[in-house]
Amino acid sequence: MERHVQIFLNRLSYASIAIATLTLLFVFLQTPDTCVISSSSNLRFPKSSCDSSPRAATTLHKKNTRLWSSRSWQSKVSSYAAFFRDLGLLHNHSKVLCVSAGAGHEAMALAQMGVADVTAVEVVESPPLVDRADPHNLPFFDEVFDLAFSAHLAEALFPSRFMSEMERTVRDSGACVVAVEECGDMEVGEIVSLFGKSRFVGAVNVTLSGLRMTRIVMRRTKRISS
Ligand SMILES: *[C@@H]1O[C@H](CO)[C@@H](O)[C@H](O)[C@H]1NC(C)=O
Ligand SMILES: *[C@@H]1O[C@H](CO)[C@@H](O)[C@H](O)[C@H]1NC(C)=O
Repeated sequence: MERHVQIFLNRLSYASIAIATLTLLFVFLQTPDTCVISSSSNLRFPKSSCDSSPRAATTLHKKNTRLWSSRSWQSKVSSYAAFFRDLGLLHNHSKVLCVSAGAGHEAMALAQMGVADVTAVEVVESPPLVDRADPHNLPFFDEVFDLAFSAHLAEALFPSRFMSEMERTVRDSGACVVAVEECGDMEVGEIVSLFGKSRFVGAVNVTLSGLRMTRIVMRRTKRISS
């Protein structure tokens, strides 16, 4: 092969590598734009694969009023309220983050308990209770919450990333609380090992919205910067 052709081909492959890298980087940095319907009881199918057209506020208000007055919603909310009361870690002035909060039962329970500063996030938003955020890439600064909670660690795509994000947003000596399907010491140990900057406080078996679950409490010990 002639020398200048070889040089040209080399340049071409460098250019392709650069483009591929940039594309990957771009894809990686994008927040996933999933269009999944959040509530399982909501059987409205999207008109297109990405039906995210904002519905009128009145419709949303009506929809929420209907949802929130349903018996299943209310019993789930009171179950979460009992769970949080039993935890004994919350005050009116606590700043709480709920990760993978679904339709927002836990957020409503906390608000009803008088916790003023509650942030709830889910891949799909449920206004006004739940904002949209990727649990693997939380849009919050380090160490801003007193307590982070999730009952949906099991559904996380990358559990260790999910946990380290929760942990990152909790202040020094703040708490991370997860509720997982009821399990024994070995599984609890595995979950505890996903936390890099917290110490294990305790695990108890509880009933949460009719399900037998294990509640694990961790407390932040080390600073991120260390
Ligand atoms: C918030 O304050 C009210 C009134 O003082 C009290 O009844 C309630 O238990 C407090 N809630 C929490 C979570 O401490
Ligand atoms: C929770 O229940 C499981 C059995 O389902 C048991 O193995 C475990 O020891 C219990 N954990 C606690 C903390 O009581």
